[in-house]
Amino acid sequence: MSRFSSLRHPFTVLIVASIVPLYFYSNCSESFKAATEFEISSQCGQKKVVNQHELFKIIESNHQKTASHPQIRCPGFFAVIDDDEASNLAHQQKLISQANNCNEQFPTGSEPTLPENSQSKDQKIKELIATVESNNIETWVTEMSDGSQWPTRYHGSSYANTVSSWIANEFSELAGDRQDVTVQLVSHSNTQQNSVEVIIQGSDSSNEEYIILGGHLDSIHKQTSNLNPNSRSPGADDNASGIGTLLEVFRVLMATHYVPKKTLVFYGYAAEEIGLVGSQEIAAAYANAEKKVKGVMQIDMAMYSSANPNSIQFVTDYTSANLTQLATTLSENYLDMSVSTMRCGYACSDHASWTKYNYPSFMPAEHQVDSSISRIHTTNDIVDSKLDATYAAKFSQLALAFIVAMTYE
Ligand code: BES
Ligand code: ZN
Repeated sequence: MSRFSSLRHPFTVLIVASIVPLYFYSNCSESFKAATEFEISSQCGQKKVVNQHELFKIIESNHQKTASHPQIRCPGFFAVIDDDEASNLAHQQKLISQANNCNEQFPTGSEPTLPENSQSKDQKIKELIATVESNNIETWVTEMSDGSQWPTRYHGSSYANTVSSWIANEFSELAGDRQDVTVQLVSHSNTQQNSVEVIIQGSDSSNEEYIILGGHLDSIHKQTSNLNPNSRSPGADDNASGIGTLLEVFRVLMATHYVPKKTLVFYGYAAEEIGLVGSQEIAAAYANAEKKVKGVMQIDMAMYSSANPNSIQFVTDYTSANLTQLATTLSENYLDMSVSTMRCGYACSDHASWTKYNYPSFMPAEHQVDSSISRIHTTNDIVDSKLDATYAAKFSQLALAFIVAMTYE
């Protein structure tokens, strides 16, 4: 028996047995360890032993905003590998959150100084964003999610690395014979699934700063993946849409022979859906090597069509205020999008892994009117009339504007 921890009210979680050497850190509270059984207790002290499947169901129900807690969605967690890290994170979180109210303040990562505007950047942005083609995104997202190649991209499935290799191959084909581009798979300690890494070497060798763009390549079915890892989990919006959006960005860069001054890296992260596993290992490796990262863009869910397709939101928790400001300006100037903000309420995607290691990140999010939240992590997250590749194309354009702003001069 190792520790008490609370997921969020009304439940607290007590670990009663553990066979898997992985801890989960709940952003709303403390940490808990992956185990065969968990004893959970309600705030009134009623106790119950549940298995991991039932625990995931509780996490999933916590996704929904409730009448009593309309502002709080707290299913998120970091998977961390040892006791020390779990208690460090729990301690940090305790310092910044208020009792029973998740995450009033968040870490932001270091704040970068913003780049200067210039006329040549302005022209370059206009030139690049004019060449974005939404039908490419639609094709990629369909190929990754329609079941014709694999039923799921779940990290624990037998398709986990077929998916990673396929995505790496798409990038390689787009890269053609560019000598300054490397496409490789990144293996991990805490998941069998590989991440995909695409590096465009910066032309200015005196500049050691990195600009990073990424999105997770895995999918999950919250009710069934855990019991049957190969069960259907299309993850079209969450997050084939992010990978399709990034492939289109990369296609435009290659087609226009774009050469960044700083090194530009694209990631398809493995195993996000079980606790940001791939991105945490990658961000930790950058921190260990003392690499300088000037900005990270996360794309996670970009295709759910809303009542106002000219509206985009920026996540304000676990992100950099300065980068979010830059992205806001770029969206208003180049995409003609109205901008609002949203809070995940917890470390909801891979940007938080970079923030954890003090690197500045930002994340645009779909403008959700009728919520896509009810579809994600189910068999209903498919390409249908609710998903709109022309909306995702705006995310590609924003990514290109960000790349030019950070790496053109
Ligand atoms: N795509 C979601 C995060 C998200 C949800 C972004 C709603 C924007 C709006 C992501 O894949 C996800 O499911 N995250 C988990 C947490 C993660 C740490 C396992 C979640 O939201 O429960
Ligand atoms: Zn998800």
